Amino acid sequence: MRIAIMTTGGDCSGLNSVIRNLAVMGLIRGHKMFGILDGTDGLTRAGAPHFVEFDYNTLPVENARLAGSWLQNGHSHALNFQTAAKNGDTKPFNAKMKKSLEAMKLDALVIVGGNGTLSIAGNSHAIYGNIQVVGIPKTIDMDLPLTDTTIGFVTAVQQLASYCDQLLLTARSHHRWFVVQSMGRDVGALALNAGVACFADAILIPEIKFKPENLIKHIKKIEKEQGRDYGIIMVSEAIKMRGHSGRAADMISRELAKADIPHRTAFPEHTQRAGDTAACDRLFAARFAERALDALENGETYTMVRLDSGIVNTVAISEMFHAGEIAPDPYIKDVFVSNAFVSGDDPLLSAAIARGTYIGELK
Ligand code: F6P
Repeated sequence: MRIAIMTTGGDCSGLNSVIRNLAVMGLIRGHKMFGILDGTDGLTRAGAPHFVEFDYNTLPVENARLAGSWLQNGHSHALNFQTAAKNGDTKPFNAKMKKSLEAMKLDALVIVGGNGTLSIAGNSHAIYGNIQVVGIPKTIDMDLPLTDTTIGFVTAVQQLASYCDQLLLTARSHHRWFVVQSMGRDVGALALNAGVACFADAILIPEIKFKPENLIKHIKKIEKEQGRDYGIIMVSEAIKMRGHSGRAADMISRELAKADIPHRTAFPEHTQRAGDTAACDRLFAARFAERALDALENGETYTMVRLDSGIVNTVAISEMFHAGEIAPDPYIKDVFVSNAFVSGDDPLLSAAIARGTYIGELK
């Protein structure tokens, strides 16, 4: 088969591991393996398609652990599903995509994508025609339903926790708190997981209402009862506070300032998408790649590989529209974007509470 790999959306660590696994496993099985350069951008730009054919050394083994995507994901402002729909350019965009994919004479496409790309892929028969499409879930946000993990999440948790570990040392030296703003888009999973891992004293996520006055009480209580005047307050970028605007960490900072609590804000930003891929993500990369190739050889299409209670299997992408919390995409008619929000019975919430962490007003 002629199989192409495409990475889309925001990058994360683990993409190269997926690419190398797919390329090498595909070559060993006798397939011709291609990589689309720059995602949908590379398929729709003038002179498209932009792609490479893999041999065993195209993505050297020593680079397979590195963050980013060796194939690149395209310019953030470039024409993609969302921008095309927003500008009313869907038809020419779809036509360019289709033409480029046809020019590559592909039998199959593996899309390593997140929430947006995969939910859109489930509705794009007009673009892909007879090409088999299988998705591999990747995102640091963990906002995809139907899978227990996504490539890049564990590494992002590691990166963010390590960042906080470093801050704790300077926090102690200066008797101050650090308000760390995590990524995660609309979902609190990254903040919750990294917050528990780095022993944060408070974790604020969009799924759980919190009271700033109770956060302040909590910090003052630690200072008084434990004699500790430093620590981490982990804040998801998605939290909202009535009557406040601006960045999440800045909103909390204003409350701490009012209460005279010495502190600084910190923004790890895209370092959460960087860093050597954690071994756990590399293991999922290997398992997901193998399963994606099995799926293609079995004739599957419009399915997504996933981790399902310890087992790697596939599920119809269309199932996403019936799972978890879904919201209509603001730009694309008839397309839904699914979000897997942190649920109230997440075991990490009870572990955090058991340890005395303030996680909001969860009853
Ligand atoms: O979806 C991944 C993500 O890193 C989010 O957590 C974050 O809100 C966003 O992308 C950042 O986007 P950009 O790379 O365009 O700044």
